[in-house]
Amino acid sequence: MARPQSPEARREALKEQYASARACTRCPHLVATRTQVVFGAGNADADLMFVGEAPGRDEDLKGIPFVGRAGRLLESLLAEIGLTREDVFIANVLKCRPPDNRNPTADEIERCSPWLMRQLELIRPTVVVTLGNFATKLIREDPTSITRIRGRVELRRIGTRTVRLLPVLHPAAALYTPSNRELLQSDFALIAGLLAQGAPEQTGEGEAAGRLGEGEAVGEDDRADETRPVGEREPVGDPRDGDRCEPSDEAAAPATGAPANGALDEAQLGLF
Ligand code: URA
Repeated sequence: MARPQSPEARREALKEQYASARACTRCPHLVATRTQVVFGAGNADADLMFVGEAPGRDEDLKGIPFVGRAGRLLESLLAEIGLTREDVFIANVLKCRPPDNRNPTADEIERCSPWLMRQLELIRPTVVVTLGNFATKLIREDPTSITRIRGRVELRRIGTRTVRLLPVLHPAAALYTPSNRELLQSDFALIAGLLAQGAPEQTGEGEAAGRLGEGEAVGEDDRADETRPVGEREPVGDPRDGDRCEPSDEAAAPATGAPANGALDEAQLGLF
């Protein structure tokens, strides 16, 4: 896949991805219940990118990630370290709301993750903060629970680039638990130092980046021990159909009613 280099070219490519993602029908169950695709929002050339889990009700209605209560906490955590949403890009593992805020399924994550990987490639953050278990497990390709590794910085290769990865608790886990808020605050306090270090040395193609933190042994699936209140979760069957859209460098087919790629409404995408 071609890699646009300049910030302008990457921004345009991101807008094309947005237009393409808006028409995504890879997960028919989610297509049937979503109001809209929540692609991600923020600074298209951000050094710092956050990856959450999936849109909730507020995000589904507004089309922008983290605009509900967890989002307000995220904004206040950012403010405490002198940042605003305009400084960062915020995306989710899933771009569509799982009904009743249930957990994303493995199948949905697999179908949706190419969008996230393409976003990471186009935005080129040097620091990626994963919020909670789903984002952390996906980016680390490892089932170790967030509660065991939060606050431990790693160098991680994501696609073609190595980033500084900081796994932290999901903000929703801190809404009713002050001790989790303190953990989030202490982990967010690491961000300025990570940004100051600049981009990590880029390892060769295919070469795995080493971990910086004192990692835990891996191999367990301890998804259940995340402390965030996930609300009413319900198991669902795996969607199997509808594989018709792909992240790509090609001009994407805009969703019905969307303007042509170049004229995409940036406010709608929430780009700064
Ligand atoms: N929780 C998430 O993980 N993402 C959102 O966008 C909102 C809440």
